[in-house]
Amino acid sequence: MQKPAPSDSPIHELIRNRWSPRAFANKPVAPDVLRSLFEAARWAPSSNNEQPWAFLVAPKDDKENFEKMLGILVEFNSGWAKNAPVLAIAVAELLFAKNNTPNRNAQYDTGAATAWLSVEATARGLFVHQMAGFDPEKARQAFGIPAGWDAIAALAIGYPGDPASLPQRLQDRELAPRTRKPLSEFVMSGHWGQPAPFVSN
Ligand SMILES: Cc1cc2nc3c(=O)[nH]c(=O)nc-3n(C[C@H](O)[C@H](O)[C@H](O)COP(=O)(O)O)c2cc1C
Repeated sequence: MQKPAPSDSPIHELIRNRWSPRAFANKPVAPDVLRSLFEAARWAPSSNNEQPWAFLVAPKDDKENFEKMLGILVEFNSGWAKNAPVLAIAVAELLFAKNNTPNRNAQYDTGAATAWLSVEATARGLFVHQMAGFDPEKARQAFGIPAGWDAIAALAIGYPGDPASLPQRLQDRELAPRTRKPLSEFVMSGHWGQPAPFVSN
């Protein structure tokens, strides 16, 4: 299913077409495609080129790993994410490797890498559904995430499926229109709360 963003200004089709489905097709993601997704993440910009991200990945055919990953999700998410062919967690390193001082952009950069991955996925007909609904401490225990690294978001990755495969309440959400705040609420100029002049035309 396609769910293009009804954008107010023209945007690139990859940005328009990315969205977060909960219905996934029963189709595996080939290893070379997975490599390209993480290659895209690799080329994200980061503060000091620290690249403070890591990804734990569980394709469905790696049953034990996949079940372990499902087990860290909240029930609402595991209910639909179990049908995705690949699950992953994005993890951020909180201190700069060179001097152990806090990297206050670590989560930001990890989000940027995940955004790059999502755009690459869209270009390949895949979709990424990010999830905050998981237990970071369970993730630490289950995968041996070391101190100094924090699990930031879980990801369900796969090809889009039939919304009819979802329970009714999720079908409704799957088909609901996509909405966003207007630019005038978050693009400011001169003083906090003052919309930038170019946003109203
Ligand atoms: C960091 C992050 C955490 C999210 N957590 C969840 C989640 O736990 N469960 C869920 O179903 N969707 C989750 N989402 C998906 C958002 O609800 C979704 O991105 C948002 O509604 C906008 O929809 P779109 O991605 O289709 O444009 C999350 C998205 C992000 C970026």
